[in-house]
Amino acid sequence: MKKLLFRIPKSHAPKYQRLAEGIRTSIKEGYLRPGDILPSTRELSKILKFDRHTVMNAFRELISEGWIEAQEKVRYRVVETLPSTFLQPRETIRRDFQPSSALIELARPVAMGDYQEAKTFKHSFPSGFPDPRLFPLKEFKSYLYDALKSSDVLGYGNPVGERGLLEQISIYLRRIRNVSDRTIVVTNGSQEAIFLLSQLLVKPGDYVVIEALGYPPAIEALRFAGAQIIPVPVDEEGIVTEYLEKQIKQKKIRMIYVTPLHQYPTTVTLSARRRLHLYELAYKHGILILEDDYDHEFHYKSQPVAPLASFDPGGLVMYVSTFSKILFPSARLGFMAVPPAIGKEIAKLKRISSRQNEQILQKTLSLWMISGGFERHLGRVRRAYELRLKAMDEILTEIKMDHPKISWNIPDGGMALWLNTGENSSSLAMRAREKKILLHPEKNFLLDCKDGTHLRLGFSGQTSAENIAGLKALSIILRK
Ligand SMILES: Cc1ncc(COP(=O)(O)O)c(C=O)c1O
Repeated sequence: MKKLLFRIPKSHAPKYQRLAEGIRTSIKEGYLRPGDILPSTRELSKILKFDRHTVMNAFRELISEGWIEAQEKVRYRVVETLPSTFLQPRETIRRDFQPSSALIELARPVAMGDYQEAKTFKHSFPSGFPDPRLFPLKEFKSYLYDALKSSDVLGYGNPVGERGLLEQISIYLRRIRNVSDRTIVVTNGSQEAIFLLSQLLVKPGDYVVIEALGYPPAIEALRFAGAQIIPVPVDEEGIVTEYLEKQIKQKKIRMIYVTPLHQYPTTVTLSARRRLHLYELAYKHGILILEDDYDHEFHYKSQPVAPLASFDPGGLVMYVSTFSKILFPSARLGFMAVPPAIGKEIAKLKRISSRQNEQILQKTLSLWMISGGFERHLGRVRRAYELRLKAMDEILTEIKMDHPKISWNIPDGGMALWLNTGENSSSLAMRAREKKILLHPEKNFLLDCKDGTHLRLGFSGQTSAENIAGLKALSIILRK
């Protein structure tokens, strides 16, 4: 009897698949070589005690995959032209071949740190997260069900967004934020909007101004487009436009990225004086403004100041916003509202990058907006977050009695508080980790990674009781 050069693996798969797998592995490991003749189907079925059809099916599969070929319909052999360098046992390959890492040369490295899975901390102050427990899932689910009744949402759609949602955003922007006559493009969160605009509008080497304490993913998106970043300081009135003016005199600036309503991370609202000065400078020198209005609705002191995009005679403002803070971040629904000429180009870019946003959630959201449920939810969460800010202010006032060095201003709005701890906040954050408290120190938002004394304390993502417990735990490790 012929010695078989393959073994049939044990598994629950059908016999013909196991036979094919055995022969395939034997070829891959070099026991059966290119050109080797296989036993005939009759012989094999006799040796293995398999039905002949089983053997034929296995051979058919190997032929269709290109491992073996039939000769004059009776003889089967391993395809002669298989390139043989890697037809050897895996261990030999691992030992004798080096991975060719030199070939993996990035065209443009990305300067972001690796994504860190959130560890479980006993206390944390999620920086600018909505509280998912306040989201009316049951109500939203009924619109999700309605959205799925239409097969329209299952196909390819317009890259700029689902028609119903575009219409609702446009109405909402006009009515609530005083922004109109713009092209709206729905994006995968506002991060994608920032990325696409950077790719389209910033050339390698262009100077782009950012707030010196700023939002790292936006800064890195700009840098990835090739921007040379110019940090401009922020103070109690927002970005220091007097400093910006000096920079403009020295360099040809292409774009200014700003968070005017609630400066990220300090939460300061840009003063009227500086807003006018910022736009005036941009207009005079033909500089684009990338306005990131990420948590517009959460303004407590008064009506939120209208975006820069609400008065933009020069067509300079690229307005970017998100539903991450109102719905939930995993919806990945953001948008931009830009001058029509840019909108047209963005639509093409969106098409070759992510094609379009997923349509089911877009449709669901538009139905929810039409029903009025969206704005009712907004009203509820705005009130809840305002109370959470008040409670945070009260507990910090208590803590200050023992730690007079801490200080803060109550922001006009937003989802976080910028606390001056009066000590190095990076070391404080390190000590806090040991006590299972997660903090976001000033250093995380500084381009030059210098240490500072502030912390960004998110208050919206958890209840007042949770915030208070966290702050009490923090007060124990504050230095006297
Ligand atoms: C300042 C700022 N801009 C943009 C974003 C991006 O939000 P998303 O991509 O989830 O819409 C965030 C999210 O935290 C933010 O804080």
